[in-house]
Amino acid sequence: MEIRKASLICTLICTQLSLAAAAWADDPRAKAISMIKADFSAQGSAGVDRLEQDGLQAVCTRSGNKPPPAIARRLEQDQQAGIRYPADGKFLGDWRSGEKIAQSGSGYTWTDPPGVPAGGNCYNCHRLAPQELSFGSLGPALTGYGKTFGNTTEVQKYVYGKIYNAKASHLCSIMPRFGHVGALNEQQIKDLVALLLDPASPVNQ
Ligand code: HEC
Repeated sequence: MEIRKASLICTLICTQLSLAAAAWADDPRAKAISMIKADFSAQGSAGVDRLEQDGLQAVCTRSGNKPPPAIARRLEQDQQAGIRYPADGKFLGDWRSGEKIAQSGSGYTWTDPPGVPAGGNCYNCHRLAPQELSFGSLGPALTGYGKTFGNTTEVQKYVYGKIYNAKASHLCSIMPRFGHVGALNEQQIKDLVALLLDPASPVNQ
């Protein structure tokens, strides 16, 4: 009786295990994720926890960056609610520092000592000051941004929020969430807002 019970339990567990193994073999996503994880190892400040997606990223990946609009709006609202605007109500910093931050790609690499202030790497994806010849085009050109959209408090707040968390207005944006992840601090974001909007900034010449 005991032996029959044990073998029944074994049959149940073994069936479950082989079903799980079969599901893994048939699930290219699970296979791809485990292959990616096997290819990375933690070095310095670059931990493998970077491979973990949060809920929003999973929704974008699973839907091919096209989540149902109602769900996208809800999730954008969640992201929006997490934006911490400056307590002093001022959004404009110094465009000269902003230009340096936009040029800088430092921070977060495995050779960077922890705590090194990160750059914004904005030129990697955007054209900003027209005299800079080296820029990427993954994002729209931002040259003349302030001239085009003006420098009202409303526009300043929008740009601050965009840099803080691009996914609050465009859920599956590939632009990093600089403030949300703590890569850029409040002053750095203000300086970048000035780079885009200050009439004296090279972006607006
Ligand atoms: C990996 C590429 C990438 C990086 C790096 C990046 N962006 Fe973006 N950015 C984008 C993309 C793509 C969009 C368009 C989609 C969207 O609105 O999120 C965008 C949109 C924007 C917009 C909104 C433009 C509009 O039409 O209103 C602003 C402002 C902006 N980026 C500023 C910045 C600044 C400042 C930095 C540096 C701190 C930066 N971006 C870094 C890819 C990037």
